[in-house]
Amino acid sequence: MPKDHAAAGAPLVSVEGLDVTFGAGADATRALRDVSLRIMPGESLGLVGESGSGKSTLAKALVGINPVSAGRIVIAGEQVGMRRRGTRADRTLLQLIPQDPYSSLSPRRTAGQAIAEALDPQRADVRRQRETIIEWLERVELDAGAVDKYPYEFSGGQRQRIAIARALCIRPRLVIADEITSALDLSVQAEVLRLLATLRAELDLTMLFISHNLAVVRHVSDRVAVLFQGELVEEGDVEQVFRAPRAEYTRSLLDSVPGRPGFRLRDDRAVDHSKGTP
Ligand SMILES: Nc1ncnc2c1ncn2[C@@H]1O[C@H](COP(=O)(O)OP(=O)(O)OP(=O)(O)O)[C@@H](O)[C@H]1O
Ligand SMILES: [Mg+2]
Repeated sequence: MPKDHAAAGAPLVSVEGLDVTFGAGADATRALRDVSLRIMPGESLGLVGESGSGKSTLAKALVGINPVSAGRIVIAGEQVGMRRRGTRADRTLLQLIPQDPYSSLSPRRTAGQAIAEALDPQRADVRRQRETIIEWLERVELDAGAVDKYPYEFSGGQRQRIAIARALCIRPRLVIADEITSALDLSVQAEVLRLLATLRAELDLTMLFISHNLAVVRHVSDRVAVLFQGELVEEGDVEQVFRAPRAEYTRSLLDSVPGRPGFRLRDDRAVDHSKGTP
């Protein structure tokens, strides 16, 4: 269990020399090259990089839905990723929250049903599990009335909250959030980030938080890893990388952050853990 790993100082996630290549011959795309990283229990690692840099490929390799060409992925002492395609990691081991909750929430299932199924895939029953469902809805700051509503009845931000509740109610060892705020308006994005920061503290989440925006990652991550064309070019404490990026590419990512260094999401202070910035 997590405590043993923490006590032993062992990482929850260990990726070593990971290579993922799509296709073969002249058409081959080497999406990840010799990527190594670790995530300690209770830690949130941010993963940033421009579009096509391999972020989702890494997330899917961890889930076990991408073929792995070389390297090793160990999560909670279990090797994943070298299995046949389609053999997913256990759902309680990790949960992936995708960018678009429309792709993860069935349009024909209410929020209550979606959470009930996550809680108990065999015996999903909204009436039986109502109390627990409402508890999770409240955790993501939705009211009890959300139980019987369908995805189309919610805003984008609310749908993303349901997707978060659905992933977290399983209490997975690792949560992977892949661009979960990038489709949202800035103010909604800030609210979801604030919520995630709160949940992280409350539930002691171990997280891989993926975004193309370093300023976003900063709100919910301790460390950050920077991907460029499938290779890790920088890794370190998120504040340190933000203030003094070493890699040329990281600097270019920072330059693209609107109005840096004054760039602030609305409600930013609520989620900004750094002190002393005016
Ligand atoms: N199933 C696939 N088959 C072939 N090529 C793929 C596949 N999945 C990803 N790729 C390629 O691998 C590279 C990395 O893609 P990936 O989706 O991981 O990037 P990303 O960093 O998540 O980008 P974005 O920010 O746009 O989501 C790209 O060149 C992409 O075209
Ligand atoms: Mg992606």
